[in-house]
Amino acid sequence: MTESGAWWREGIFYQIYPRSFQDSDGDGVGDITGIIHRLPHLMTLGVDAIWLSPIFTSPMADFGYDIADYTGIDPLFGTMDDFDALVKAAHDGGLKLILDLVPNHTSDQHSWFLQARQSRDDPHRDWYIWRDPAADGGPPNNWLSEFGGSAWQFDTETGQYYYHAFLAQQPDLNWRNPAVRAAIYNVMRFWLGKGVDGFRVDVIWHLIKDAEFRDNPANPDYHGERPPHEQILSRYSADQPEVHEVVAEMRAVVDEFDDRVLIGEIYLPLERLMTYFGKDLGGAHLPFNFALLSAPWHARDIERIVADYEAALPPGAWPNWVLGNHDRPRVASRVGAEQARVAAMLLLTLRGTPTLYYGDEIGMHQVPIAPAQVRDPFEKNVPGIGVGRDGCRTPMQWSALAQAGFTQAVPWLTVADDYTHENVVNLSADLRSILNLYRALIRLRKTHRVLATGSYRPVAAQGDLLLYRREGDGEVLTIALNLADEPVSIATEGSGLAGTILLSTWLDRDGERIDGALDLRGNEGVVIGRSA
Ligand code: GLC
Ligand code: MG
Repeated sequence: MTESGAWWREGIFYQIYPRSFQDSDGDGVGDITGIIHRLPHLMTLGVDAIWLSPIFTSPMADFGYDIADYTGIDPLFGTMDDFDALVKAAHDGGLKLILDLVPNHTSDQHSWFLQARQSRDDPHRDWYIWRDPAADGGPPNNWLSEFGGSAWQFDTETGQYYYHAFLAQQPDLNWRNPAVRAAIYNVMRFWLGKGVDGFRVDVIWHLIKDAEFRDNPANPDYHGERPPHEQILSRYSADQPEVHEVVAEMRAVVDEFDDRVLIGEIYLPLERLMTYFGKDLGGAHLPFNFALLSAPWHARDIERIVADYEAALPPGAWPNWVLGNHDRPRVASRVGAEQARVAAMLLLTLRGTPTLYYGDEIGMHQVPIAPAQVRDPFEKNVPGIGVGRDGCRTPMQWSALAQAGFTQAVPWLTVADDYTHENVVNLSADLRSILNLYRALIRLRKTHRVLATGSYRPVAAQGDLLLYRREGDGEVLTIALNLADEPVSIATEGSGLAGTILLSTWLDRDGERIDGALDLRGNEGVVIGRSA
């Protein structure tokens, strides 16, 4: 091994939402064998690592983010043999495999919780967070559940409340209890021992709560179109200083094995996010950077977001970028189908590990879900303000066959109605499709290592134009992105823009020489190459 961990720096990650990728057994829900069948798509695409949302034993109240057995595979997804086959098939195909670790909470059906709620004296009682009612019998404090209502659920049998940051069916574990830590670290060792290449840790910034359970302060910026839990700030319920001790311990477990990666799901302001790299970088290798998920799609905003992020990185920290995931609206709907191609070029030419979300490579958009079809518990609890996550979790569109080739049965979630055209088979054949753009961008990132490892330098630009340079390895690449649908012309004299177009988002200008001026069509991005 040359530089330990180089694969997660230079590689490209791809998130699979297993319920929606490929059904193999005709129950309308995607499964592990389905993923194995579809690995060739990922190999053709050229990604290096796949991250699976949870596949563990679960009552599925939050579709697997409520785990009842951390070392069991849910029968809906298959068996442990299927999983072992997936690890082998992925590795044989040169793909790393990352699992989702959900340590903040279990299912209320987990044996630990079933025991804990038996009595106040149960040895597992302190594995969860129990508090006496307030003087008036109400919840112990004002903390709110992210999925609506109080974060405290009263247990009549034992006369105390338990804390749940999400659904009442997802009681939070007590990470101040060393027995909880030991148990989850052993879960990690179990999967790492099976050969998985790392974890994406669910809501890692939530793990430790205030020891005194102080009331959270009101959010002065709250307005009624936002989810109700945002009425209070999570000052005492998340991102506590002691969480970094836990992150460092998790990192140490991962480091017991060669060349594995620790990724953290973290929605926090930049300066707080950076702390999750850990002291002396002994924290998460990749604290997910979600800045682009909520970015206003304007050149100057994106330029500032990238500059701020680059500037905030502690020495030695490796950047990363994310355009979509299973909790946020699809990028193609956020920025529009035309700009989705520009967004792809941005993601795959920025400095830092990119994570793709399944379906974004074929331009899947946010699918409208009829009220009677809603599956997401968040939308069910907090209806009508657009928090629903079903629309970004619809079945992958493989072909023009019934149900887009996803299943032979009724799919668990509706298939987008544009699938007869927007599917992998069709877009593969269309040489200028977004799918072929993704493939070309990934190829470019492989053949021009400067895109993975070179420095990032912004270049001053006006209006809707975003310009930056990647430099290293004896090469200088300039990336010019037009974030508007109007054409734009840039004089290249003195701007260092002269060179050869290596790739346009329209896939029709390779090899074009640029010297007098660079003309970009509306919604076009280009990568321009020249030797250093
Ligand atoms: C994370 C997951 C989300 C889940 C929540 C609770 O944010 O990404 O899907 O609902 O945690 O586990
Ligand atoms: Mg199935």
